Amino acid sequence: MPKQQLVEKIAALKADRDAIILAHNYQPPEIQDIADKLGDSLDLSRFAAAASEKVIVFCGVHFMAETAAILAPEKTVVLPDPAAGCPMADMMCAEDLVALKKKHPGSVVVTYVNSTAEVKAETDICCTSANAMHVIQTVPEGKPIIFGPDKYLGGWVAEQTGRSMILWRGYCPTHQKIHPEHIEEQRRIHPTAVVMVHPEVNPAVASLADAVLGTGGMIAYVEKSPAREFVVGTETGMVYRLRKKFPDREFFAATKHALCPNMKKITLEKVAQSLESLGPVVAVEPGIAGRARRAILAMLEVS
Ligand code: 13P
Ligand code: SF4
Repeated sequence: MPKQQLVEKIAALKADRDAIILAHNYQPPEIQDIADKLGDSLDLSRFAAAASEKVIVFCGVHFMAETAAILAPEKTVVLPDPAAGCPMADMMCAEDLVALKKKHPGSVVVTYVNSTAEVKAETDICCTSANAMHVIQTVPEGKPIIFGPDKYLGGWVAEQTGRSMILWRGYCPTHQKIHPEHIEEQRRIHPTAVVMVHPEVNPAVASLADAVLGTGGMIAYVEKSPAREFVVGTETGMVYRLRKKFPDREFFAATKHALCPNMKKITLEKVAQSLESLGPVVAVEPGIAGRARRAILAMLEVS
């Protein structure tokens, strides 16, 4: 079906199904263009909680749709491709976390939202890239902190806050494709550009950046910055997002290889199909969802 016809079909189905389309900042351009709301993980969880529609079509990866399902259990949450997972989230399992908690009694578990519902259920408070520093600062001094799954976000937050943390060993394969040489090369090509990188990058990359920010933080930073050119050290979908929002500025990907294959699994055809069939549904077992919800709400309360 031609693209325009598909876009029109999605709009008609959306109205018929009473659906809202939420999309992450890394989604392919054609998905960003049809989204009702675009944002980072924190924005999207808030949009899901506040949505008045009956159906949420989540254009992102599984943990994000799961977070929406936990926050809006009365709604139908569909993920257009059920195979759109997050390898970092899959690096942490609830059984291993329970064992680690036993080894560190009295510790506070802070978990990045890039995690499964089962892991969130064993968590005291969640965080995203937008609020990780703030969340850590809410933990009383002297309390041991277990942080997972991202060792790079955790390491960066530990350095910024001066808090020592027991770090899980997870990481994002996509952000590890950004190397220090890429930043050095972009600085050579664009000497006046400001370099922004995501805290999921390797510390060797973060140390070369002007700012370390989540995707929502990057948008806010550009809004306030007098700079005209920016190097973007995160998944490449963010470059499209920034170019569209700030047409008078220039954005360059640190490397075109920082591409999250899971984020790119969502297509217009799959969105239309999801609206037609109201599937594949992402649902969380109520017992797990209830415990996971407490950890997510604890984060939303302090953010
Ligand atoms: P943000 O919350 O910064 O958008 O990050 C989500 C993510 O998956 C980063 O890889
Ligand atoms: Fe997961 Fe990395 Fe993809 Fe984000 S970019 S969804 S952390 S694999």
